[in-house]
Amino acid sequence: MKKMWGGRFSKKTDLLTDDFNSSISFDQRLYKQDIKGSMAHARMLGNQNIIDPKEADLIIETLEAILLDIEAGKIEFSVSMEDIHMNVEAILTERIGDVGKKLHTGRSRNDQVATDMRLYVKEIVADSKLLIQNLVLTLLDLAEDHTDTIMPGYTHLQRAQPITFSHHLMAYVEMFKRDMIRLDQVKAITDTLPLGSGALATTTYPLDRHAVANELNFAAVSLNSLDGVSDRDFCLDFLEAASVLMMHLSRFSEEIILWCSSEFNFITLDDAFSTGSSIMPQKKNPDIAELVRGKTGRVYGNLMSLLTTMKGIPLAYNKDMQEDKEPVFDSYDTISICLITFAKMIKTLTVNKEVMKKSAAGGFSNATDAADWLVKHGVAFRDAHEIIGKLVFFALENNKSLDELTLEDYQNISPVFDDSIFAAIDLNTCVNQRNIIGGPAAEQVKKAIAFNRQWLAQN
Ligand code: ARG
Repeated sequence: MKKMWGGRFSKKTDLLTDDFNSSISFDQRLYKQDIKGSMAHARMLGNQNIIDPKEADLIIETLEAILLDIEAGKIEFSVSMEDIHMNVEAILTERIGDVGKKLHTGRSRNDQVATDMRLYVKEIVADSKLLIQNLVLTLLDLAEDHTDTIMPGYTHLQRAQPITFSHHLMAYVEMFKRDMIRLDQVKAITDTLPLGSGALATTTYPLDRHAVANELNFAAVSLNSLDGVSDRDFCLDFLEAASVLMMHLSRFSEEIILWCSSEFNFITLDDAFSTGSSIMPQKKNPDIAELVRGKTGRVYGNLMSLLTTMKGIPLAYNKDMQEDKEPVFDSYDTISICLITFAKMIKTLTVNKEVMKKSAAGGFSNATDAADWLVKHGVAFRDAHEIIGKLVFFALENNKSLDELTLEDYQNISPVFDDSIFAAIDLNTCVNQRNIIGGPAAEQVKKAIAFNRQWLAQN
């Protein structure tokens, strides 16, 4: 096929170069954005009398038909037409002849591709937000059922203080809310129209850039044409938001993996969301969580890849920037599948309440509360810390938990103790006395769940 830019060339492009240069294998994903952008551009060219308004109408109608044909799978793209922009234009010109050649008036592929990518990123940001929202709703539902499910809270992966399963889940809700906010920020930064920047220095035609921005639903038009064609910060911001989201999913996955080991046994994954081993018949593996944790690497990689691509590029457009697409597509695909599968896995897991509670009791997670009891009875905190340390030592030697010791055991270590200590170190008391905003007490967590349901409805 004859190249659109073939005029000054006397030789055909080497076939391998054609292949190497072309992006149609992956940027065909942008067909809808490309066509919508072209329709807005053509309408504006007609309205400004830069081309005949009737010809603009014909271009728009034909583009619409091409869009439908692509969606119906009737179009085959060509590698020698290099990318989605020239493929669409070639099909247009094939259908309406010379009129089709007028579409590219006052436009370059440089501002065209920047526009397509921004339209695309705005869409995937909205989609990703919905998927996170769905996960958060799943977490809120599960949290609602477990405001009284005691589990050990950890620091250094050592049992620290008792909390509830609900409180633990709600920590992830906070993370995913921040991911949603981060995506809003990506949207805000993406919401500027570069079309009209031309190849690098705008154009001599009286383009109405605001009209195009309006039709394509952009909040603003770019104010510098060099930056308009060479800015990919919005892609990087999306990749960064995706990376932080994956970091959250990965931490959660790590906990799921730990929790469903026999050593923890806090949860049981549904059979439909676990896999077996081809050799060990007893195995039930948390592959989904492991894959989510593993795929975090490629999403980080995508961010690094584009950051590195962009770092040495002089203004304005350079072909290096064609490498912006695959990382963005791949990160979007990856976070989508991870969010969907992860939410399903969470929805179907079983919580082994008794095991969690036993673990919280066995790990001296109420030791701080025992020390606090002493403080309330006149002992200085440092002394109380020492006394409870001795008590824990004694309990360990006798293979008992704090609530299994007798009052006599307590009084042997400090005469201050009386039998109200047992109520104070009851795990339910320990949790529910931590009743300030942000705390694990059922009352606080229920409030947080209600607050977050409302927050979700507004975001
Ligand atoms: N396929 C190209 C890309 O994705 C489109 C822009 C090409 N512009 C150019 N001057 N060669 O970046």
